[in-house]
Amino acid sequence: MKATKEQWSSKFGFIMAAAGSAIGLGNLWKFPYITGTSGGAVFVAVYIVFLLLLGIPILLSELAIGRFAGMNAIDSCAKIHPRWGFAGAFGVIGAFGVMASYSVVGGWVIRYIINSFTDTNMNSDYFTSFSAQSFEPILWMAVFLLLNCLIVKSGVSNGIEKVSTVLLPLLIIFLIAIMIYSLTLPNAADGVKFFLVPDFSAVASLSDFMSIVFNAMGQVFFSLSLGMGTLITYGSYLPKDNNLASSTVTIVTLDTIIAIISGLAILPAVFSFGFEPTEGFGLMFRTLPAVFSRITGGTIIATAFFILVLFAALTSSISLLEVIVSWVCSNTKLTRTWASVIVTVLIFIAGIFSSLSVGAIPDIKIGNMSLFEFFNFFSDKIIMPLGGLFICILTGYVWGIDNAVKEITNNGRFKFAAKKLFAFSIRYIAPALIAVIFASSLISFILPLFR
Ligand code: PHE
Repeated sequence: MKATKEQWSSKFGFIMAAAGSAIGLGNLWKFPYITGTSGGAVFVAVYIVFLLLLGIPILLSELAIGRFAGMNAIDSCAKIHPRWGFAGAFGVIGAFGVMASYSVVGGWVIRYIINSFTDTNMNSDYFTSFSAQSFEPILWMAVFLLLNCLIVKSGVSNGIEKVSTVLLPLLIIFLIAIMIYSLTLPNAADGVKFFLVPDFSAVASLSDFMSIVFNAMGQVFFSLSLGMGTLITYGSYLPKDNNLASSTVTIVTLDTIIAIISGLAILPAVFSFGFEPTEGFGLMFRTLPAVFSRITGGTIIATAFFILVLFAALTSSISLLEVIVSWVCSNTKLTRTWASVIVTVLIFIAGIFSSLSVGAIPDIKIGNMSLFEFFNFFSDKIIMPLGGLFICILTGYVWGIDNAVKEITNNGRFKFAAKKLFAFSIRYIAPALIAVIFASSLISFILPLFR
């Protein structure tokens, strides 16, 4: 087992890479559609509460563990306690699962970039017919994975950091422009209202509320890349002089602002053109091209938008690939290039089944979910929360708050005013919340299997 030698070349580069990992399809594609299917503003409010209670403390813990140990996710956790490597293993396994569905969507995005050039008439049925094909989506997924492999094989500061530093700022500028455009559409206000003003009739029963809570927690984990070893891995490339607490706040703030801007870019357009916000995972793919096709210059905006989605997706997926690759590099004799290639091929194989299950071979199911949905469910509802729970226990009880705080403050060099809050949250609030929500969701998943 080798310790990590690579490092970020600057603080800005690290923030761009970590925020780039957080900001991704989770913000642009998932957040608007889950807000749409989970009752709008009530969901957004619960989401923000979870960001504060779970998101910030867990993200900070992961960075601290990574920087303290300076190794890949599994070996970093094992350095804190030899029996705790499994906490990091959730990341390595989970990253694989997320990639198997993330790359499918990444492939769709590439197809849409090309299509928005050539086909001005992309109607909302296009998504159904395209995603249900067998060959094409797999081809584009392969292209997406190839891009990932090329970036990750180039290394941490040379590949990941360089790409994120260029792509993330571009993405933010683009997205703000599209939001402004969306907000000026007729009836845009209905979308804004749906997004920001709670409508409690969407929460008619306790089970409605529980499903909102469950979705919100999953989304916090997914959006911040938590419980997956990503931030442990990225933290391991950090120099000792980084102020982890302030980096954490910056990353969470950027991620949240982008999620809100995405909501304000997509939902007003959905309402303005009379689509249903409850559309589900096709929301972005079905509604936006239709919106763009109705406006002059729409082709250019559509192309720009999907390029931006690709940027966001890439800066996240490379972080997932890096979790696995850094572990493989440290524990085998493989070079970074070979590790990247082999892991990418394995993900591709899983991705093929995941892609086919979306429509071409709908029988590839686990329980009542398609394999694609299962990979999604398994990662953000099972692996990530469980990974997060173990990170809380590892930090709060095994490593101990005092040791964690020593790392966070660089042995007292930085102020850390929220120490007590952090301790309380990581030891009690976060684990209790995750355990309760997780248990109730597991029951709701398992029960229907026996019916
Ligand atoms: N946070 C990413 C997004 O919002 C997805 C992701 C999850 C990346 C877990 C890394 C680890 O799209």
